[in-house]
Amino acid sequence: MMKKLLSAATIAALALSGTQAVAAGGEAKGLKSVEWSWEGAFGKYDQAQLQRGFQVYREVCANCHTLELVAFRHLGEKGGPFYLSSCPEGLGLPDSVDCSDPVANPIIKSLAAEFTITDGPDEFGDMFDRPGLPADYYPSIYANKQQAISANGGAYPPDQSLLVKARPNGANYMYSLLTGYPEYDPEVLDVPGGQYYNPYYPGDSLGLMKADYIDEEGHVDKKKVKELVDEKYISKDGYIYGGAFKMAQPIYDEMVEYTDGSPMTVDQYAKDVTAFLMWAAEPKLEERKSMGKFVMAYLIIFAGVTYASYRQVWSNVAK
Ligand code: HEC
Repeated sequence: MMKKLLSAATIAALALSGTQAVAAGGEAKGLKSVEWSWEGAFGKYDQAQLQRGFQVYREVCANCHTLELVAFRHLGEKGGPFYLSSCPEGLGLPDSVDCSDPVANPIIKSLAAEFTITDGPDEFGDMFDRPGLPADYYPSIYANKQQAISANGGAYPPDQSLLVKARPNGANYMYSLLTGYPEYDPEVLDVPGGQYYNPYYPGDSLGLMKADYIDEEGHVDKKKVKELVDEKYISKDGYIYGGAFKMAQPIYDEMVEYTDGSPMTVDQYAKDVTAFLMWAAEPKLEERKSMGKFVMAYLIIFAGVTYASYRQVWSNVAK
């Protein structure tokens, strides 16, 4: 047993040192860690935050990214940004309307109608535009993937529907990336036009080093790097964190007009849009958590019953 444990530990250590060796020079900065509202056994999405996040998504990210798996009606489902438990007063809706139904939800209906959907073909074989309906999916601003790529300098802006779940520690990654663009690129890097340096992007900073800071053998001049670059961009091995990719910093202070008094800062926008995209990737998180609690309670009670019956069954056996 001990042997087995030991060898498992050795393998783990080897595996770890292996990845570190590969990561040297391309290591991304350790992520910032936010206390998200949905974390922990009783965590929940914050509906006001999801609404703000949707606003940021719509006004900023949707200019380049798609959200293919999200239909307007999803936004009105329980736990979603525009879910209503009952109909708002003053809209003159008849009692028969059930606003908790996303398709009848008046916010969802008017929101969908603000978008133009290309539908068809009609009886003459032509495509036509119409206002969106709750059942429509969030429309892409591109006709196809090729158009998206050519509009973004040769890089495809990944679909955002599942992106937060597709990256390790995705919410903190998204937040760190959005808030992590430096004001000036580290002195020792030469970032090509159309690319943008970010210490949290898992890229390759070695390839960006100016020739002056690389010796004949291809080693980085770590002493000069230390002299010239702010230490927050230098890994403990002496390399520059992160790398460059093809998304410029998308959000700036005051860019999106909030109406609920929340701070209009990069930090707040980044938190809100991350929360929204986390919800988009995992809308059933709250249900899953309450199911988990139910299962745990069941197992604990069941274990108690099993133990009691074991005592009962064996109680007459002479010791
Ligand atoms: C001007 C266009 C543009 C806007 C606006 C934009 N993005 Fe991007 N985004 C891109 C492109 C292009 C890429 C792909 C870059 C690459 O792969 O080099 C990308 C990539 C990303 C990535 C992926 C990084 C990875 O790990 O692969 C994330 C996360 C992201 N964007 C989030 C956002 C969020 C959130 C917003 C809104 C606040 C946003 N983007 C707004 C163009 C944009």
